[in-house]
Amino acid sequence: MPTDSAELVVLDTDPGIGPGLDADDPLALLLILASPELDLRGVTTVFGNVPVERSTESALRVLEAAGRQDVPVARGMSVPLNGRLHDESIAEYAKQHQRIGPVDADRVERGRVAEHGVDFLIRTVLENPDQVRIIAVGPLTNVATAILKEPAFAPKVKAITIMGGAFGFDTEFGRGNITPSAEYNIWHDPEAAKIVFESGIPLTACGLDVTNPNKGTVLTEDQLLALVSEETAFTAFLHQMCKTYIDEPRFTWTAGQNSCILYDPVAVGSVIDPSLVRTRRTPVRVETRGEYTSGQTIADLRSGADSHIDVAVDVDGPRFVELFVKRLTALRDATSA
Ligand code: RIB
Ligand code: CA
Repeated sequence: MPTDSAELVVLDTDPGIGPGLDADDPLALLLILASPELDLRGVTTVFGNVPVERSTESALRVLEAAGRQDVPVARGMSVPLNGRLHDESIAEYAKQHQRIGPVDADRVERGRVAEHGVDFLIRTVLENPDQVRIIAVGPLTNVATAILKEPAFAPKVKAITIMGGAFGFDTEFGRGNITPSAEYNIWHDPEAAKIVFESGIPLTACGLDVTNPNKGTVLTEDQLLALVSEETAFTAFLHQMCKTYIDEPRFTWTAGQNSCILYDPVAVGSVIDPSLVRTRRTPVRVETRGEYTSGQTIADLRSGADSHIDVAVDVDGPRFVELFVKRLTALRDATSA
């Protein structure tokens, strides 16, 4: 349960559950549920890894597995600001097999609210001015649309922490994953990312530089097996979700690593314990027109210009994973108590 001093958060996320789908969004949601420093006010879903209805279904399933159908889930945007999904996304969605497991649909659907995800974000922030941190771990379309729709929104958001971008601080992974120069979340909707980065809202960006095997920000299969050693409904779900990812990861360059890369959980970890990441305040430009570079995030280190953006340049990977496993273990025990 959140402590009295817990920070209000809304998780904006694009979870999919199944082969070829990153398990990191669901794991980020579970880490939030397991952390008393965070008071989760709701989940808003967005297209990205999967179409928005699947991300909504996945978020509902994760909350049901954790016994937290009290958390509202509001479905958000289904396409980028320009109205057009990438051809690659359309082809990918057609091949996907969402696997949320044998579920009681009524139980899973309990947390769904009719309010649009963008309106949920706006209302939650305006009802709690300067108190809500948005943790955005998918394309930034919901947040950007809220900024465009309601002028009073951006000035009242306490802060945003994203998993997104690639800033060149890791020579092997700090460039791009979906293209040589763009990280997947930004690539989905560069225009939205540009709006969010230029909104003036204090923003911490955890990019590929701090979410990759070089940094140790992975959950190994052995750690997973230890977590799920005793069979319960929760551990069966956790095991099935992570195993499908380990066997068929989203990005083939991680195949054979026998681990889940904890992209999105690192962003959550940086909120729980900011000392886990080292950040550098710098202006960031988002490329929206490059033929080969659309979605690139460029940290302008030369510039001493004022900025409200903190880019994570390093992470204590082992200490983060230790926190992650400890919190998930506590959540597992709480669900079977
Ligand atoms: O590039 C990593 C991002 O892409 C993560 O948010 C992960 O969920 C995938 O969608
Ligand atoms: Ca994600």
